[in-house]
Amino acid sequence: YRVPKAFNEPNLHFEPNSPEREHLAKALKTLRSQLPKQVPAIGGRDAKVDSSKPLTPTHLPAEHAKTFSEYGSASEADVKRSIETALAAKQEWQDMPFHDRASIFLRAAELVTGKYRFELLAATMLGQGKNAWQAEIDAAAELADFFRYNVSFAQEIYDKQPTVNSPGHHGRTDWRPLEGFVYAVSPFNFTAIGGNLVSAPALMGNVVIWKPAPMTAYASQLVHNILLEAGLPEGVIQLVNGDAPTITKAVYDHPEFSALSFIGSSDVFRELYAKAAQGVGEKKYRDLPRMVGETSGKNFHLVHPSADIAEAARHTIRAAYEYAGQKCSACSRIYLPESQAQLFFSEMKKELARVKVGPPEDFTAFTGPVIDRKAFERVSKAIDAANADPRLETIVGGTYDGSVGYYISPTLYATTDDAHPIFDTEFFGPLLAAHVYPDAGFDAVLAQIDRQGGGFALTGNIFANDQRAIRKAENRLRYAAGNFYVNCKITAAVIGQQTFGGSRASGTCDKAGSVGLLQRFVAPRTLKEEY
Ligand code: ALA
Repeated sequence: YRVPKAFNEPNLHFEPNSPEREHLAKALKTLRSQLPKQVPAIGGRDAKVDSSKPLTPTHLPAEHAKTFSEYGSASEADVKRSIETALAAKQEWQDMPFHDRASIFLRAAELVTGKYRFELLAATMLGQGKNAWQAEIDAAAELADFFRYNVSFAQEIYDKQPTVNSPGHHGRTDWRPLEGFVYAVSPFNFTAIGGNLVSAPALMGNVVIWKPAPMTAYASQLVHNILLEAGLPEGVIQLVNGDAPTITKAVYDHPEFSALSFIGSSDVFRELYAKAAQGVGEKKYRDLPRMVGETSGKNFHLVHPSADIAEAARHTIRAAYEYAGQKCSACSRIYLPESQAQLFFSEMKKELARVKVGPPEDFTAFTGPVIDRKAFERVSKAIDAANADPRLETIVGGTYDGSVGYYISPTLYATTDDAHPIFDTEFFGPLLAAHVYPDAGFDAVLAQIDRQGGGFALTGNIFANDQRAIRKAENRLRYAAGNFYVNCKITAAVIGQQTFGGSRASGTCDKAGSVGLLQRFVAPRTLKEEY
């Protein structure tokens, strides 16, 4: 028996008057009528909200006067109990034949793309402020792709066995799951990421404690329930909501903490990494916990004088401003040759004049709000500082309006200052900075790109028609980006086509959408028998 060949889920396009647009409108209406959604502290088939305890609200990013969800918070004792429940489920789970484990995730992919597609889209649109197309590539297509491709990657791992046995010898690799449990911490910006962070280790026979970002408490509960409906035994993935330090403390105090599976901010990853190292130093854990993380980026587009400028501008608008720039892969610095900079700016002005910023339910809006008040304050403060900075010229935007939703207009600043701190600061919003370099200074700009970016190295690209320039950039920027693109935008890696992940401060480069990621969640045992 072989697992079925994985494939990319085709995207829905939501054309006006199409059945899919109608389905989605209905799902959005239903969800709106049910708000606020109450989410229990601990997920599970029979999980109930404990109304004797306070719930924490989240708000619609596009309409912050309205509550989207109210989630319960697990206490330290609750998390400890969850860990014990997960560990108790482990033996049976890891003993289940791989193909039975795999079929659960394949069934889940069908539920994601069929029965629950529009519910997942509505949750991601209202809760995380994504428009229909951004929600579709995330909560439907990418989530299902992760489930399907991880099954194929796992099969590849289990297939890896010694190819030669001398006479009288038999060798084998036992792809054991990790001995303890995995702690998965997922971010607000992709519903699919949570699905991957938990399904990759679970598929390999591990049990997982999952702490999703509060803004995804409801969408993550949907994903968890889908996995349970697909046949995942209770306890294998324990979904816990609440205060991050409380949950982390319970996890990090447990001797069976075996791995961290993290996507989120660089500072939090460093903190969790350091805490784990401290525990290792104190011999707190049976294992040396694996640290698997993907964090922030300060990602670049590089335009060579030979590039098609109109094309570069169109790609840049998508990379910098889709989902209000809140993808770890988003473009936030661009390097332009002096001879083409004005043309590039006029293309950007022309294209952005047609771009509408609006709520996720408005199908004419290209992009929406940032996620919450904290994000709005961070980015609007950066805009105030940039507007007052004489070294920066405002090309587009530079405005914001937080009265109804957390809206920041797509913004582009330009400077000839090659050491401006704007090229080293991650804002996680629709804020792009351009450096204009002398055409003759291509080599120098490559060195500058490598040096800048706040120590991050997630995504980057070059737009050029000159092949020598492309190869030179590819070489000199070898460590400046984990994902390097040529003549296309730096966002929207597709599972099975581009693996995804960065190095330096951007993470451990354990690529999402790869065999390599799954391999971090196994502890292979070598067996040799003589007969
Ligand atoms: N994997 C996502 C992208 O490539 C973040 O944009």
